[in-house]
Amino acid sequence: MGNQPLVLGIETSCDETGVGIVRGTTLLADAVASSVDEHARFGGVVPEVASRAHLEAMPATIELALSDAGVVLSDVDAIAVTAGPGLVGALLVGTATAQALALATGRPLYGVNHLAAHVAVDRLEHGPLPQPAVALLVSGGHSSLLRVDDVTAEVTALGTTLDDAAGEAFDKVGRLLGLPFPGGPHIDRLAADGDPQAIDFPRGLTGPRDLEQHRFDFSFSGLKTAVARWVELRERAGEPINGPNIAAAFQEAVVDVLSRKAVDACRQQGVGHLLLGGGVAANSRLRVLLEQRCVAAGVALRVPRPALCTDNGAMVAALGAALLEAGRPASALGLAVDSGLPVDQVGVV
Ligand code: KG4
Ligand code: ZN
Repeated sequence: MGNQPLVLGIETSCDETGVGIVRGTTLLADAVASSVDEHARFGGVVPEVASRAHLEAMPATIELALSDAGVVLSDVDAIAVTAGPGLVGALLVGTATAQALALATGRPLYGVNHLAAHVAVDRLEHGPLPQPAVALLVSGGHSSLLRVDDVTAEVTALGTTLDDAAGEAFDKVGRLLGLPFPGGPHIDRLAADGDPQAIDFPRGLTGPRDLEQHRFDFSFSGLKTAVARWVELRERAGEPINGPNIAAAFQEAVVDVLSRKAVDACRQQGVGHLLLGGGVAANSRLRVLLEQRCVAAGVALRVPRPALCTDNGAMVAALGAALLEAGRPASALGLAVDSGLPVDQVGVV
């Protein structure tokens, strides 16, 4: 325990300023400041607002993480930071901070991939990762199915969204129903009182032709348009809108496709472990349906607690510690951010 590396991780790829501290696979601190309220009136994350918020929140978030963990900066063995994918300006605040900390402490710097970090975080919850595993990462910024043979070196994309991310679809439909931003949690709550079978909304990329080309890809923009059209037609006819039914039927369409494709990926890859991550992992219906389908398919499902599923610094620290343990090379101090960092690039050298 004492010789496991103490790693500080910084996450700023979107609207959460996260600073986490881990010792090996043990979580010591997970400080997060979110600028989500500042974006609410725009109905989506505004990059410039996010960058400024990161800058303002960073010093206090670092202080909080250090005091929660009961350590001082000079105790830290390595600094890890999200280098991409994400919003360029937001990422730059994180990497500039990490560079300064690495320079000040003389410790190595690890620039890491945000998606691999979403996978690595489960080490803090359930211990060493089962590998190979398939990972389903669903948030406001990404929807990906990955094959993970080694989270420190070998992560392969099986599929991704061709348009909106799953969480983005929740947020857009939330706006359509007059719910506050982000819409995901509100739709989840509203759906509890609705009938998921009330409306048969389309399941994107599940037809026979689509499955040939896009077996593990997602598309949610057609679904969003179908919901918009449904609402518009009812409004024009002067009929009442049943919010709970729309929310439940929309949610069912999203989680049906997500869970079906994730389990199909496990089957096709011959992999017995599935990891779920990203903000949408908090969705109550997704958790239930995915668990049912995993049990039926003989797949073991691992889902970290909600606070570790959403963007945070602990996930970055967890991946940094894994890279250090595996003897992977550190990044150059002048490390560049890459808003479109490919998922197979786990660490940035
Ligand atoms: O991972 P995250 O905190 O940030 C990024 O987008 O990277 O994910 C936020 C997303 C939002 O789109 C939000 O609406 C969605 O996760 N979300 C949910 C739920 N809780 C959060 N979507 C559906 N059901 C939920 N319970
Ligand atoms: Zn994320």
